Amino acid sequence: MNFIQLLFLVIISGVFWYPRIETAKILGVFPTASKSHYIVGSALMKALAEKGHEVTVISPFPQSNPLENFRDITTTDIWKATEPFTSNLLHFKRTSPFENIPRIYKFGHTMVNSTLNDPAVVKLINSGEHFDLVILEIFMTDAMLGFAHHFKAPCIGLSTFGASKWTTDLVGTPAPPSFVPNPFLSLTDRMSFSERMLNFVMSLAEVLVVRILDYPVQNQIYQNTFPDPKPSLQELKNTAVSAVLLNNHFSLSYPRPYATGMIEVGGMHINRNPKPLPDDIQRYMDDATDGIIYFSMGSNIKSKDLPDEKRKVFLNVFSKLKQKVLWKWEDDKLPSKPDNVRIQNWWPQDDILAHPNVRLFITHGGLLSTTESLYHGVPVIGIPVFGDQNLNMAKAERGGYGLSVPYQEISEERLSAAINAILGDSTFKQNAQVMSQRYRDQPVNPLDLAVFWVEYIIRHKGAPHIRTASMDLNFIQYHNLDVLAVLVGIPVIVILLLSRLICKKKTPRKNDRGDRKKRN
Ligand SMILES: *[C@@H]1O[C@H](CO)[C@@H](O)[C@H](O)[C@H]1NC(C)=O
Repeated sequence: MNFIQLLFLVIISGVFWYPRIETAKILGVFPTASKSHYIVGSALMKALAEKGHEVTVISPFPQSNPLENFRDITTTDIWKATEPFTSNLLHFKRTSPFENIPRIYKFGHTMVNSTLNDPAVVKLINSGEHFDLVILEIFMTDAMLGFAHHFKAPCIGLSTFGASKWTTDLVGTPAPPSFVPNPFLSLTDRMSFSERMLNFVMSLAEVLVVRILDYPVQNQIYQNTFPDPKPSLQELKNTAVSAVLLNNHFSLSYPRPYATGMIEVGGMHINRNPKPLPDDIQRYMDDATDGIIYFSMGSNIKSKDLPDEKRKVFLNVFSKLKQKVLWKWEDDKLPSKPDNVRIQNWWPQDDILAHPNVRLFITHGGLLSTTESLYHGVPVIGIPVFGDQNLNMAKAERGGYGLSVPYQEISEERLSAAINAILGDSTFKQNAQVMSQRYRDQPVNPLDLAVFWVEYIIRHKGAPHIRTASMDLNFIQYHNLDVLAVLVGIPVIVILLLSRLICKKKTPRKNDRGDRKKRN
């Protein structure tokens, strides 16, 4: 066989044997009015559209330029509905969990209800359209599992952060609180007794919170939205989701067990092939021989909303540095801007961080930003304001690749001390690079892995064979309490019976003695 024949054979067998699916119709539902949540979901949907799948996306973020195979269903009411929760993020108060938790669920319910009542979404529900798969962001969105049943399609859940009770319950991932830290506490996987106590109590509290605060409202929204006949929402929670994709990777967090259908695709949104920077920025960064500091508070917080005194802190500290600073500043002017600071209302963050002269990223500590920074091996200073930002920065401090300067504590001393510490001590950079090497060492790039699993679930019609049997067990069976009852109960019963027998045998002897006494 000559080379040409061999090549022909390889191509032909590839064509026939590679397990392919016809292009599928896929519905993505990413209702959260927060750009960072959308970035994760849309990265996957765009990759699927590129592979030829016909993609429909419900979200509040329409594409500015139309994409092939990509249809937007844009929700518009959500901005107004969720405004009371999202305005003034910088003035977010550290309130007690008793106030915070109901408020967060209220935000979720408002978001879900507003999305499901949006005219564009109602039209889709009543359209009689068919989908082969639903990809749903799992973020207080249980009512939306109704899409899966309504369109008779398997469902994949997508979490924009690591595993939480919201996702583990859907696919039967075990989460023993003895070593799996709750994602909303800033604990590690190695906990002291009191930390384990806290983690355990939190895991119980979550059960109650979901049952009492979340489920009844989700159920009401579900009942009002999707036409009958339909299963109970609880049944959907047990059966509808075939797999969950997590925006997490063990190298960035902790190793832990997962059900087969729970897959880590952390950082799949990161652009693996950095695009060339605009010429002037490229030159500016190349010339920065003392290094670059990149400063962005993310997509939700606007640094132009910083109060005057905090802004002055940054300006004063930056003006004393020999590094150049790239600042995501959402306004044309920045009064008394030092010469070494360059402002722009948007930077190609991923490509900026890829530049070798970047020495430090000052961030709000959001998960996407910290993941991108680690991917590029850049240490961080975090200015956590709310949400998981404190947790991410606690992790950065423990991992030795970052320092935290909480928003409420910003001062010239704190900020310049942190900047000098990171620029002056190369171990921060080394630790960030070790994290980067561990994270990058993966058999496939996470976006390809996510696409694989999407197509796998479609190919195998919901892949019922990967469903964990624990999903069909009740609490007593899952924890083998019935088995324990038998294993402990039978010996106890036997011992009790035996001891009674012995007592009975002894009793006549007592009588004997009594008799003897009488006789004496
Ligand atoms: C959802 O929105 C509809 C229409 O605005 C409203 O009538 C209903 O009470 C809301 N349901 C919940 C649970 O908030």
